[in-house]
Amino acid sequence: MQATQVEAALKDLPVGGLRCFESVGSTNDEAARWAAQGAPHLALVIAEEQTAGRGRSGNTWYSPAGASLAFSLVLYPHQMEPYLLPRLTALGALAVKDALNKLYDLPAQIKWPNDVLVHRQKVSGVLAEAQWDGDQVKALVLGIGINVTAASTAQVNPNTDAIQATCVEALLGRPVDRLALLRAVLAEVISWQPRLATQDFLQAWESSLAFRGEWVQVSLGQSRGKDGLPGALEGLSPTIEEGKVIGLSQDGSLRLRTASGETVKVSVGEMHLRPS
Ligand code: BTN
Repeated sequence: MQATQVEAALKDLPVGGLRCFESVGSTNDEAARWAAQGAPHLALVIAEEQTAGRGRSGNTWYSPAGASLAFSLVLYPHQMEPYLLPRLTALGALAVKDALNKLYDLPAQIKWPNDVLVHRQKVSGVLAEAQWDGDQVKALVLGIGINVTAASTAQVNPNTDAIQATCVEALLGRPVDRLALLRAVLAEVISWQPRLATQDFLQAWESSLAFRGEWVQVSLGQSRGKDGLPGALEGLSPTIEEGKVIGLSQDGSLRLRTASGETVKVSVGEMHLRPS
């Protein structure tokens, strides 16, 4: 993927700058380095191959040469209110979901909080990271990985549940123009970003949720809160919340209905289908 080709494909989009690599450790790390040097808003880092791609929860993200889309965008909180930070991951996931839907008519869904699934198989993942200066967010990096060719799923990215990996070409049964897909995803990010605070955004995210009405388990990190009890209970050791997916809260937390009929709100965690 040549920088000139990427530039041509994105020429009508307000991308802030472009760094294009044949091979890089992680585009998120490159974007963070660039942000520290003053990258512009919507600066884009894209790589043909990542040798140390990262996923959520410390997972490795496998992106072999030419097989996937692996890119990261720099965004600044002053162009995005800090209270909207939890929506950043959803911004990436919603953009991929909408692009797959509009470009290829694929019925993509979002597995809360950061995976994009088609036919219940994972085709894309999002890793949003913040750069801090004390307690201030200085810059945000939105990293998106999309499996495009079969080679991208040859070595399965670590997955702790029964969700299989798939790729866009397998879903369509034909070759895919990666630059057209990149352009479509970026256009969606750029279109949704100013609307992060809106009910439209929340509704679009909620209506895209995978596993609505199904039993899931969410392994929690250190943060758990119940409806009506603001403030997470910090310092808990990881635990599992189990319930049926009923939707999202205003703050983007996942709402589950437990077996006892209680509604529980989960703000951080990894969702897995409940073993049958
Ligand atoms: C996940 O599914 O856990 C998130 C995967 C995110 C992968 C993308 S690829 C581009 C960017 N660079 C990285 O190192 N990770 C993200």
